[in-house]
Amino acid sequence: MNSFIIHGDICYSADQNTLITKENGYLVCEDGISLGVFDSIPEEYGGLPLHDYSGMLVMPGMVDLHIHAPQYAYRGLGMDRELLDWLNTYAFPEESKYGDLAYADRAYTIFANAVKNSATTRLVIFGTLHREATELLMDKLEKIGVVSYVGKVNMDRNSPDTLREASAQASITDTERFLKETQHKYKNTYPIITPRFTPSCSDELMAGLGELSKEYHVPVQSHLSENPGEVEWVRELCPWAKNYGEAYSRFGLFGKPEKTVMAHCVYSDDDEIAKMKENGVFIAHCPASNTNVASGIAPVRKYLDRDMKLGLGSDVAGGHSESMFTAMVDALQVSRLYWRHVDQSCKPLNVAEVFYLATKGGGEFFGKVGSFEKGYELDAVVLDDSLLPHPQPLTLQERLERSVYLAGDVKALKAKYCRGRIIKS
Ligand code: GUN
Ligand code: FE
Repeated sequence: MNSFIIHGDICYSADQNTLITKENGYLVCEDGISLGVFDSIPEEYGGLPLHDYSGMLVMPGMVDLHIHAPQYAYRGLGMDRELLDWLNTYAFPEESKYGDLAYADRAYTIFANAVKNSATTRLVIFGTLHREATELLMDKLEKIGVVSYVGKVNMDRNSPDTLREASAQASITDTERFLKETQHKYKNTYPIITPRFTPSCSDELMAGLGELSKEYHVPVQSHLSENPGEVEWVRELCPWAKNYGEAYSRFGLFGKPEKTVMAHCVYSDDDEIAKMKENGVFIAHCPASNTNVASGIAPVRKYLDRDMKLGLGSDVAGGHSESMFTAMVDALQVSRLYWRHVDQSCKPLNVAEVFYLATKGGGEFFGKVGSFEKGYELDAVVLDDSLLPHPQPLTLQERLERSVYLAGDVKALKAKYCRGRIIKS
C-alpha cells in the first residue's frame, strides 16, 4: 500500500495566481492519492509511516509537455540554424539512426537515465517514426517509474528518404499496430498519436490519424505555429485552411474528440487562439527552443489571461536542457523580453505563474496531477535547498523562488515520488 505522510516545507499551486506554502507541513498520501496538506498529523492517520524531510522543500513533480527523446543525444549542439534548416541539418539525420535498434538502445538508455535523475515525473514525448525503437523507449520509461505519453512519429512527405514512411497508408497501418501493441501493455506509459507537423504529413495521413485517435481514444501531440517560415509553408501546403490550426482541426486532431497538446503557438492568430480555447487544446510553451532556433517568443501572458490550458516543454533538442527548472527560468526571462520589445500590455510572468505552469498547468493533461490538493495523484519532489546557504532569513516563498533559479546548479534533488511510489531517493 503506498500510504504514508511526507513532512517538510511544502509548496504547491492552487491556481495560476495562488501559490500555497506551508512550513513544517504534513502531506498525507493514501493509495497514491493526496489527502491534502496539514499543520500536524491528523489523528486518523497517526499510524502511517512518516517520510521526514524536515527543513527541505517538497513540491509537486514537474511536468514536461513536450520533449523529443531521440534528440537528447545531440542537445547542446547545432544551435546555429533556424527551425526548418535545423530540422534538415540536425534533427532528421539523427532521428534516421533509430532504425538501428542497437543505437536506439544506447541512446534511449542515456535518455531514460536523465529523466530518472531529473525533477520531472510526467512527460509527453516524441519518439521517431520507427515503431520498434519507440516501443523500446516505452519499455525503458516504464522501468524508471515516471508517467508518460510516447508517440511513434508520422512523416510521409517533405522528409529525407532515410526518414520518411513509404506512404500514408503504410504510416497509418504501422501506427495502428503501435497502438494495439502498447495501449494496454504498461501501467504508466501510454501511446499518443504524433503527426510530426503539417509539412511532414499529407492530408491523407492526417485523416487516417484522426480516425485512429477517435477509434482508439488516444490523445494527440504535434507542433503549431512555431516559426514564420514554417507557418508560411503550411499556408502553401493547405490553401484550404484559414490558419495552421485548421490544418489539424479539419482532421479531428485539435482537442476534439481527444485531448491534444500543441507545442509552441508563437504565431497563432486570434482565430487559432479562439479555437484552441474552445476545444481545450493544451499549449506547450517551449521558451528555450524558441530562442535557440530563433523562432520568437510566445505570447504566454495572453494565454494565461484567457485561462487557456497551458504548460511548459523542454523541447529537447531545440531546447538544450531537460530540466524544468531551466524551462521555468527561461519562461520568466523571455516574458520580460516580450514585454520590453514586443508588447508592453503583456505583463512579464512571475515565479508563482511559471511554477504553476511547470506543475498544475501541464499536469492537467494527465488528469488530477501537479498539485497537493485533496484528490490529486501524488507526484512529489524533495529539494535540499540547504545546499544554497544564505546569511539572511528567507521566507518559504523566497526559498522556492531561489530554488527555481538555482536548485539545478547544486543538484538539490533528494527524492522523487510518482503516483505515490518513490522512484528516486
Ligand atoms: N517541428 C517539426 N519537428 C520539429 C522538431 O523536431 N523540433 C521542433 N522544435 N519543431 C519541430
Ligand atoms: Fe518539438
